[in-house]
Amino acid sequence: MTYTSPIQTSSNVATGPSGRAMAEPMSAELLEHMQAHLNMERQSAAAYFATAIWFAERELVGFANYLRDEGNQEQQHAAQFADYLISRGQTVVLDTIEPPCQQWSNTEAVISDVFRMEADVTSSVLQLYKTAEQDNDMRTTVFLDPIVEGQRLSEHEAAYLLGRVKFAANQPAALLLIDAELRDKAAAPATLAG
Ligand SMILES: [Fe+2]
Repeated sequence: MTYTSPIQTSSNVATGPSGRAMAEPMSAELLEHMQAHLNMERQSAAAYFATAIWFAERELVGFANYLRDEGNQEQQHAAQFADYLISRGQTVVLDTIEPPCQQWSNTEAVISDVFRMEADVTSSVLQLYKTAEQDNDMRTTVFLDPIVEGQRLSEHEAAYLLGRVKFAANQPAALLLIDAELRDKAAAPATLAG
């Protein structure tokens, strides 16, 4: 594996490209994937914002608010990766955000996209995990542990919402019930463990 070359300073402490002290270098491959993942989180934030707009335009306030909050969380995830890269002495490289999809035929199509997006983000995190393990980069695996678990829960939540929306079969009365649940923050999968 190749590593980003540390710069030796007069104080005999290695520094990264940002000039910060660096305890352990990261492999070029892991760094590239971490940067790409950070930008994927930013892209997800934009995609969620687009879904929130779609529902806001259709008076489904619960869906709009829920998806707005999910989008804000994606931005927070990007910030977590930025904090982590800085802590490792690396520079954060921001990429272009592509215009997200804004056209859907119905609610089920929107929420299906949300579920797929969460699954894609999980795959990306797991790929990062694999690379970090191959590199024996334990700081990164420890950083990623709670993120993997958070992604599993995000998939669980999105699957629940998609299941409810499928039950509704685009019937306005049923969609309004789900919307009310979301507005009251009462939408959550069953918990069998007491
Ligand atoms: Fe995320």
